[in-house]
Amino acid sequence: MSNERPTNNTAPNDTAPNNTAPNNHKQLPIDSDSFDSLATRGLRLGLVDTDSAEFSLWLQAEARGFHSPRLSDETIADQVRVLADRRTTGVWDESAADAASPIASVSSWPTELTVPGHASVTSWAISAVTVAPTHRRRGIARALLEAELRTAHALGVPVAMLTVSEATIYGRYGFGPAAMGADWTIDTRRAKWTGPAASGRVQFVTLDQAVAAGVELNERVRLDTPGEIGFSGFLWERKLGIHVDDKTQAKQLRYVRYDDADGVAQGLAIYRVVEIPEGGFTHTLDLQYLVTATDDAYAGLWRYLLEIDLVVEVTASLRSVEEPISWQVSDYRAARKKDERDHLWTRILDLPTALEARRYGVPGRFLLEVADPLGFAQDRVLMTINATGSALVVPFDGAVPDDAAALSLSINELSALYLGGISAVLLARAGRITELTPDAASAVDLSFRSAVTPRLSIWF
Ligand SMILES: CC(C)(COP(=O)(O)OP(=O)(O)OC[C@H]1O[C@@H](n2cnc3c(N)ncnc32)[C@H](O)[C@@H]1OP(=O)(O)O)[C@@H](O)C(=O)NCCC(=O)NCCS
Repeated sequence: MSNERPTNNTAPNDTAPNNTAPNNHKQLPIDSDSFDSLATRGLRLGLVDTDSAEFSLWLQAEARGFHSPRLSDETIADQVRVLADRRTTGVWDESAADAASPIASVSSWPTELTVPGHASVTSWAISAVTVAPTHRRRGIARALLEAELRTAHALGVPVAMLTVSEATIYGRYGFGPAAMGADWTIDTRRAKWTGPAASGRVQFVTLDQAVAAGVELNERVRLDTPGEIGFSGFLWERKLGIHVDDKTQAKQLRYVRYDDADGVAQGLAIYRVVEIPEGGFTHTLDLQYLVTATDDAYAGLWRYLLEIDLVVEVTASLRSVEEPISWQVSDYRAARKKDERDHLWTRILDLPTALEARRYGVPGRFLLEVADPLGFAQDRVLMTINATGSALVVPFDGAVPDDAAALSLSINELSALYLGGISAVLLARAGRITELTPDAASAVDLSFRSAVTPRLSIWF
């Protein structure tokens, strides 16, 4: 941990952002503004070396912050190994009885976020935001979040992102919900398969085979869906039931792989089957993860899951809000969305780099007046989308060009629109964006909306 007051931090707009992942994200000194503001309250903001004994205390503090049980030594050893890449930050209160344990945590790292057009943008993933209940509502989370945004900006990362426990926390920092998620429940007694017949086979695989297939498949399909992120290591192994102290649940997991007619792995499902209490030997199949590279694999795996004997219900969490399975069973009402909610929140830090990283549906010109109370992306820009769907974004202070659609909006709304899953017309009707020229929101939708519904298949 560094106790030194940092000196070389940068303020918003002091740096020139780019779209390549920084490799010095762990070395950049802690943010000096937040360091100072916490110091006035007797608190110390510092970085944690993931090789040190302090990291164990940080992990325990994070677990406590999320109301999880204490971590075992085995889990800590696992996490030390797989979280080495992250920038790990804590806050300490020297006056506390247990002064060695942090009272707040946050963890961050740069990774690729898929944007429309089979493209990606380097993004600052923020995770593990906790403040101890003994220290809540004193502005500690605000100090941590603002420090993260300044750090990402100083590193030249154009977008920040997080998955959220509550929808009310992050709007104040400029984040907007950009990819939704849904939990589905399917009544297998009503859901007779009417979809296409798959050409390949489903087979059980070992944990090692599931790791190999999953990592390869995730990487292969990542660019197909806006909102997905590059992930392996800890996030992937957690999906497979590794790195959890709850070994009972991990033991119940089954892994099945779908191989196409040529024997090439095209899909993987991770699930567990749980007996329904007093259910007369009936079960629920809890689909924890499904990744497919082809529609054939999607059909093959879903049919397999729906037709398992003694299973009367399939539940699937964190799926897309639109799933082909609705159209592949005999009763449309057999597949229901149990819960639909905001999942991935994004926050643009640099307008030109972020907006130019994605592709757009139709050519157009937009004058965007963007308000950003934190100052990172406050600007008036002219965005020109050419015939190939690429954009050029430049600062602009002239009158609205005749051929441009003009809008005024905050960075929250622009960040929500960024992945192409949210309707600008809807936001205009809600009074969240202002059309400065007639039908500007419709024009934005024509260019910005993504044909593929944005989705992120994991928590991070
Ligand atoms: C959420 C959490 C990190 C907030 O920490 P905190 O230090 O109490 O937050 P702050 O005092 O910095 O509050 C900053 C602002 O957020 C608001 N806020 C904080 N927690 C909130 C919550 N759970 N819901 C709604 N608003 C919240 C505060 O009211 C404050 O608003 P203001 O800026 O308008 O005054 C903390 O309560 C916590 O650890 N919760 C459990 C873990 C968790 O949910 N983490 C978030 C993971 S996505």
